[in-house]
Amino acid sequence: MPWDPVKYGHFKRERSAPFFDALQLVQDVKPGLSVIDLGCGTGELTRHLADRLPDATVVGVDNSAEMLQEAGTFTRDGLSFVVRSIQDQLALPGQWDLIFSNAALQWVPDHEWLFPAVIDKIKPGGQLVVQMPAQHHNIANRLLLQTAASAPYEQALKGFKRTSPVLDTDRYAQLLFRHGGTNITALEKIYPLIVEETEEVFNFVAATGMIPYMEALPEELKAPFVADFKARIAAYFPDRPIFYPFRRILLSARF
Ligand SMILES: C[S@@+](CC[C@H](N)C(=O)[O-])C[C@H]1O[C@@H](n2cnc3c(N)ncnc32)[C@H](O)[C@@H]1O
Repeated sequence: MPWDPVKYGHFKRERSAPFFDALQLVQDVKPGLSVIDLGCGTGELTRHLADRLPDATVVGVDNSAEMLQEAGTFTRDGLSFVVRSIQDQLALPGQWDLIFSNAALQWVPDHEWLFPAVIDKIKPGGQLVVQMPAQHHNIANRLLLQTAASAPYEQALKGFKRTSPVLDTDRYAQLLFRHGGTNITALEKIYPLIVEETEEVFNFVAATGMIPYMEALPEELKAPFVADFKARIAAYFPDRPIFYPFRRILLSARF
């Protein structure tokens, strides 16, 4: 999927706030931890993670060469990056003291499979920390799905739609517990996007959730799809400034 690090970076403050909340959930930081950041993106936030962990060996994994193209600037002793999918990473041998993932696991399907597979890669005594958007609640993502399900896009997409694999927060708490988790934290938090124009709400989604639709639509329907989606956002947010309550899930457990 063609990620654009420049577009993604436009909402740096809004997108990094939940990362720093996730970082607060990292407990019991001993020197020399082995750490993996699944879906590390540009590597900028992985560097913050690594800088918090003395003498840790940190590996950032992402399957987008575009997102990782600047990662070299964040590399240092003890911090490296690899272009690889999360699924391929989980198929490799090896376990980690800390598995961290910020705003990435929502791109991997089947969380009933994914979470046990990730937990399996945590060393005894290790920790999992995950942050993901609760997209089934977030209105712009619901409007995106509605646009994709309307004519003429639904026919052109031949049934393609990207429903979020993200489960309810209480289901994650159960999965963490059933797979040996202790000290479980399972939180939801609203990270508001406060902007003046609906165009900015559109841009926030265009850099992430809209990408698969742009890939799947025929060229002649891309501009009408964008116009239709923007019109739905505009109709939903009549007040100024716009307050878009973006809901995210934060999870942590020891194993
Ligand atoms: C919203 S960005 C978050 C990036 C970074 N963690 C951050 O907080 O800035 C999601 C990232 O997940 C990556 N990603 C999505 N699906 C993936 C997969 N199956 N395997 C590896 N990376 C994936 C994307 O390439 C993208 O860089």
